[in-house]
Amino acid sequence: MSVERLEKKATIDLRKKHVGPSCKIFFSHDPIKIVQAKGQYMYDETGQRYLDCINNVAHVGHCHPDVVKAGAQQMELLNTNSRFLHDNLVLYAQRLQATLPDKLSVCYFVNSGSEANDLALRLARQYTGHRDIITLENAYHGHVSSLIDISPYKFHQLSGAELSPFVHVAPSPDVYRGKYRADHPDPAAAYASEVKDIIAKVHTKGRKIAAFIAESLQSCGGQVIPPVGYFQQVAEHIHKAGGVFIADEVQVGFGRVGTNFWAFQLQGADFVPDIVTMGKPIGNGHPMSCVVTTKEVAEAFMSSGMDYFNTFGGNPVSCAIGLAVLDVIVKEDLQGNALHVGRYLANLLEKQKEKHALIGDVRGCGLFVGVELVRDRLKLTPATAEAQEVIYKLKEELILLSADGPHRNVLKFKPPMCFTGEDADLVVEKIDLILTELEEALGLKLPNTVTIENDSKKRKLSTDENGDQYPNSLLHSREGSPRVPQQTKHLKT
Ligand SMILES: Cc1ncc(COP(=O)(O)O)c(C=O)c1O
Repeated sequence: MSVERLEKKATIDLRKKHVGPSCKIFFSHDPIKIVQAKGQYMYDETGQRYLDCINNVAHVGHCHPDVVKAGAQQMELLNTNSRFLHDNLVLYAQRLQATLPDKLSVCYFVNSGSEANDLALRLARQYTGHRDIITLENAYHGHVSSLIDISPYKFHQLSGAELSPFVHVAPSPDVYRGKYRADHPDPAAAYASEVKDIIAKVHTKGRKIAAFIAESLQSCGGQVIPPVGYFQQVAEHIHKAGGVFIADEVQVGFGRVGTNFWAFQLQGADFVPDIVTMGKPIGNGHPMSCVVTTKEVAEAFMSSGMDYFNTFGGNPVSCAIGLAVLDVIVKEDLQGNALHVGRYLANLLEKQKEKHALIGDVRGCGLFVGVELVRDRLKLTPATAEAQEVIYKLKEELILLSADGPHRNVLKFKPPMCFTGEDADLVVEKIDLILTELEEALGLKLPNTVTIENDSKKRKLSTDENGDQYPNSLLHSREGSPRVPQQTKHLKT
């Protein structure tokens, strides 16, 4: 059977005609048609192989045979809802729980990260009897109405959008670009006291906090690693106010950070959230997700009198797939691989930072690494267009990487966990070449200074559709096709 059923142009035309125009596509000017994938590689309709540095969903590798087999075998036998007893559901719940602190013992199975976070809000509100939510700047927690409200990453894209009265936004604990930086004597306490201040303000309005929600490491927000101790102190303030702490592990869970299975554990063994939400990697591409919480929260949810039913959540096929994913992580020591290859990748990138003025910061844990590009290391001027240029040039080199963060200037690595040291060598070698070329064109040298005087060798600045400035010659590829404007909107994965 041919893996391509339509000519690429027909696929594009049908998509334009029948798929909502707000469903954006990667590299919209020259989209890639992927027809097959294996491990850390994706293949287009011509058989061209791309190195995948962005798909944290294909956690144990695209189309891992053990996962495919587990799903297919269970599909041949039975798939039905969780109102019937089935061993896969309870065995999966037991296996998942074994990766978590004891207190987090009760699971609800759902089908997407958004469903998981929406349910987490319901649990928090029912348990606390409160309504208000504290979220972080630049956070993204999902696409349903309840989550767009608490996702500044999204609602800031709407012109004239107003914050709902029950949503309160705390500063992102970003020690590179945020309000309190690495040179602050105690950024964890400083960021946590911002949350405390918000709680106090909320109380003066007669409102009450149900939950603080944060990704354990901010992903769309720009690969932000919160300072250790921040979550403990936030949890203390939140608990005092009668609220709960929700850790969103939809992007960063399941061993990606290398040292731990869950990214919230990077804060220390003394931190345990009240609710953890999971998604993307949990089913290696199969749509499943989960909310795990304490007995107390689950009992309060039960006491509402309303039962919880989810047609697809926790079905035998999803749970068979989930079990296979956990098995492969252990069998292939993918958490260990994330630790070693992640460190190797971060070291290679750190060396590039010594060489390239455009690299302002390299940060990460395991195979979750961010490289923040700046035009000036002192002013931290975001190198947005340059980041887009890197992404597009890498695509020409058959490497898929994305850029995100509030300024879309953070190159984000979150590849399948089977990513190798050779893969890291290749992508960093290409980034080195691209940055060398860009810096020559821009006249950027270490120590970093932005030179935009009228020098024929240096590029002029212009303004993109979002008001960001970028060198206008970056708008064109070697073939002269316009590129950057198509990528100026956030494209999350
Ligand atoms: C941190 C985080 N939470 C939740 C979601 C929502 O997950 P889904 O797209 O599966 O609904 C996403 C999706 O990108 C996410 O990045």
